[in-house]
Amino acid sequence: TIAKVSALLVSAATLAACNTEQSMLHPAGEDAAAVNSLFWAMAIGAAIIWIIVMGTTVYAVLGKKRPKSEKFADRFILLGGVAFPTVTLAALLVFGLALLPDWVRADAPDLRVHVTAEQYWWRIAYEQPDGSMVDTANELFLPQGQTAEFVLNSTDVIHSFWIPTLGGKIDVIPGRTNLWRLKPTEAGVYRGVCAEFCGPSHALMAFPVIVEAQADFDARLAREAAPAAASNDLFLATGCGACHAIRGTEAAGRVGPDLTHFASRRTMAAGTLPISAENLAAWLLDPDHIKPDVRMPGYDSLGQSERDALVSYLLELR
Ligand code: CUA
Repeated sequence: TIAKVSALLVSAATLAACNTEQSMLHPAGEDAAAVNSLFWAMAIGAAIIWIIVMGTTVYAVLGKKRPKSEKFADRFILLGGVAFPTVTLAALLVFGLALLPDWVRADAPDLRVHVTAEQYWWRIAYEQPDGSMVDTANELFLPQGQTAEFVLNSTDVIHSFWIPTLGGKIDVIPGRTNLWRLKPTEAGVYRGVCAEFCGPSHALMAFPVIVEAQADFDARLAREAAPAAASNDLFLATGCGACHAIRGTEAAGRVGPDLTHFASRRTMAAGTLPISAENLAAWLLDPDHIKPDVRMPGYDSLGQSERDALVSYLLELR
């Protein structure tokens, strides 16, 4: 058992050290940096208190010296049992309250992104200055050094929006709009997750987060706003377009993720798999095997050549 526990501790420590993509201890945004400093203040403070308590305990058990008077014991209890915890807890409370986000914000964000959580994927829409929306899904890109405001909604159950390296998290609740702001400070690729158990595929509801310079972000948003490269009759004939939208074609479904620039994304099935012909073929055949309880039906009714044609088409959608 000791071997097992130590193996677990070692692997946990290794994972914590390696995984900078999704680590609260490698903050790349203002909110995450605040949480990180609170964590270290509490961890170091707790370690110091633990050492003092344990030292005192060992001294009391092993030490031969007894306090000479009751006065000493009274003072010890008063200082160690009342004054010290009161001061420490009050200081932690003030520190923690200071880190809370402001509830009332008069300033406008630099960017507004509408995020809708669904079992088990993320609908993402960028609000343009003229009020129009650019729809995409399962991949979030943000300009570095800018404050993004997320308008969060859910269509089914309670989910939670969390990008550990940037900040969060906040529940995404059906029938309620929650607002959340993040300011990424470092460019990079991070991982966002759903942090509230929402069904069998809760763990398969993630999204890559790409933080890049403003100019790169603007270029990317312009690419995302453009219509798809090609239309495909088979995609429409098999009914795919009833659930998925591909802008610029007749496919305009709103049940599943927008696929307009699907092949330019880093992952498929909401952070579950890298995009490849092989993974797509497996997905079309039996999505429930990859992502239990997913709404998309399997297409084993189609022939191999038809599924291959759909895969080729999806890979064209860059
Ligand atoms: Cu959505 Cu867990």
